[in-house]
Amino acid sequence: MRSWRFHKFGTIRNLRMEEIAIPEPADDECLVKIAYAALNPADRLLIMGLYPTHAQPPFSVGRDGSGTIVKPGKSGRFKKGDRVVFLRSIIGISRDGTLADYVSVPEAHVAHLPDWWSMADGAAGPHALLTSWQALHEVAKVKPDETVLISGASGGIGMGSLLLARLKGARLIALSRSPVKRDKLMSLGADFVFDPDDKTLVKQVKDLGGVDVVIDTVCGDFLSQALIMARPYARICIIGALGGIRCLIDPTRLIFKRLQIHGIQVAMYSDAGVHQAWQEIIGLIQPHGTKVLIDKIFPFEDVPAAFAHLKAGPMGKVLVGPMNQ
Ligand SMILES: NC(=O)c1ccc[n+]([C@@H]2O[C@H](COP(=O)([O-])OP(=O)(O)OC[C@H]3O[C@@H](n4cnc5c(N)ncnc54)[C@H](OP(=O)(O)O)[C@@H]3O)[C@@H](O)[C@H]2O)c1
Repeated sequence: MRSWRFHKFGTIRNLRMEEIAIPEPADDECLVKIAYAALNPADRLLIMGLYPTHAQPPFSVGRDGSGTIVKPGKSGRFKKGDRVVFLRSIIGISRDGTLADYVSVPEAHVAHLPDWWSMADGAAGPHALLTSWQALHEVAKVKPDETVLISGASGGIGMGSLLLARLKGARLIALSRSPVKRDKLMSLGADFVFDPDDKTLVKQVKDLGGVDVVIDTVCGDFLSQALIMARPYARICIIGALGGIRCLIDPTRLIFKRLQIHGIQVAMYSDAGVHQAWQEIIGLIQPHGTKVLIDKIFPFEDVPAAFAHLKAGPMGKVLVGPMNQ
């Protein structure tokens, strides 16, 4: 089978498409023929050796995907031909991932493709929705009419958070550096959009009454601004640090407004926890036929171009596929 692998940590150029043997699943695993894989910024960090947990190379990245069961495992939950997606996945981190024709994955990390989703929707959805759910529902416990501010709102996590926060009845402020993407975010349900580099951002958001929940994928200097825009008792969920890992925090803002700052980590869901979260998400989105926006789909041969597109700043999820058609 074809697999995009790297043999030593370094730049994304270390990824090579190679022919390797189709993996042999263990008893509690199933073999899935991949239809689509989705990219994540963390894949690049993994290849660079900057991700905190990882397998030793050679291995392939890719933690999102959809496909068809070729060999079911012993759980009895799946049969040959079932169309599936991947939930809390260790694939693409501590073992071979979805940038390949086939992947072997623990059955405990697999769910059936929602029936209103295409295979491409299946690759785009779970990771973004589960991460956003952990932040908005489990940690921040967002309530209707609260105001949620999302940084990096045009990205995969931004899309997931926008969709879920809207269905929860929240008022939404979305940030993007691109005017074109800000228009798109309005059309997707944001109530207000701002450029995060606008010097008047803090004043404008405070004039709107401030924010109750912050979904932050950018961090860096933005975090100190978020603490100023936060209303008393606000919950700030840190999901990523695309804008930098160093930030100044004025502790008195935490003290006098009783703010809470939380780290979010989708990979820390337990097997049972991720299925419960998935069922709750499906229950919320099914009546609305919700899907996570797909930005662009690249051919499997063009994985390096797909990573370059992701790095430039997407508008939704960046996919690779269809494989095995
Ligand atoms: N904690 C977890 O469990 C978890 C799970 C998934 C992802 N993550 C992390 O969350 C972050 C976002 O992931 P994603 O999939 O949404 O990424 P993405 O699809 O690449 O989108 C990120 C968005 O952030 C904005 N952005 C990028 N670099 C920026 C910068 N330097 N300053 C300000 N804005 C910037 C861009 O929006 P504009 O160009 O429109 O401004 C971009 O569209 C990543 O760091 C990822 O590793 C964490």
